[in-house]
Amino acid sequence: MKTVRTIHDVRESLASRRTSGESVGFVPTMGALHDGHWSLVSRAREECAHVVVSIFVNPLQFGVDEDLDRYPANLDSDLEGCRQRGVDMVFCPSAAEMYRSAIKTSVHVSELTDRLCGRSRAGHFDGVCTVVAKLLNIVLPDRVYFGEKDYQQLLVVRKMVEDLSMGVDIVACPTCREDDGLAISSRNQNLSDDERRAAGAIYKSLQDAQASIDAGETSAGVVIEKITSYIARNGADRIDYVEVVDDATLEALPQIDRPARICVAAYFGKTRLIDNVAVHTQSL
Ligand code: PAF
Repeated sequence: MKTVRTIHDVRESLASRRTSGESVGFVPTMGALHDGHWSLVSRAREECAHVVVSIFVNPLQFGVDEDLDRYPANLDSDLEGCRQRGVDMVFCPSAAEMYRSAIKTSVHVSELTDRLCGRSRAGHFDGVCTVVAKLLNIVLPDRVYFGEKDYQQLLVVRKMVEDLSMGVDIVACPTCREDDGLAISSRNQNLSDDERRAAGAIYKSLQDAQASIDAGETSAGVVIEKITSYIARNGADRIDYVEVVDDATLEALPQIDRPARICVAAYFGKTRLIDNVAVHTQSL
């Protein structure tokens, strides 16, 4: 496995792979790698001749009051995990390498980014799109792998790739969960033991919501109220949003009468967690 720190070296070492027609699969990450990331890596390993992982905590996607300084990092164990899983190259640039001069370009996807996390995290998706566009331009992969846990990010990046004709296939992979259903996230490491126990309430509330929809509930308002009160009763310190949205446009739905997602963002202590599930109604 090669560990590469410069854009020049990534381009140079992938050039021969490309000319010999080998497919390149790419997993962009911010490090603190966990089973969610490993599921993306193993899918890429199954589907592509050459697997590249990037590890870069992108400052552009963190707001001033957000957790950039607290974002967990463990490069040595990330690299060892990549090695064990047959990754061919890890690109771990410094911020100075990625943003050599003060960056004047920003990639903005409209509408999809006004909703859900976009409302409380101003500029977040511009930061994500800008770095993902840059990474895709550097690695030029055939396929790029994203987890459904960050469902809005997945849709926003998909739209960017489509609108800018970036010519890469986006592969969406299911959310990986802990035993109690908590979506696996690097930020889970920041939870205290009590917060960690309480955070299981998010997925439990989403499962209960699915059960009530299975039993015939179609009102988004009723579902949202049940989830909000369950999470609040079970230890969330603050709820950012609970929404039932159209699964393609992310527009809020009054009635669950088409393919939908229930999306949640809530704070346990200082840690903001997000989760979502696809909703199936009997009639769909
Ligand atoms: O999902 C993440 O870890 C990040 O948003 C990404 C896609 C690596 C961009 O920094």
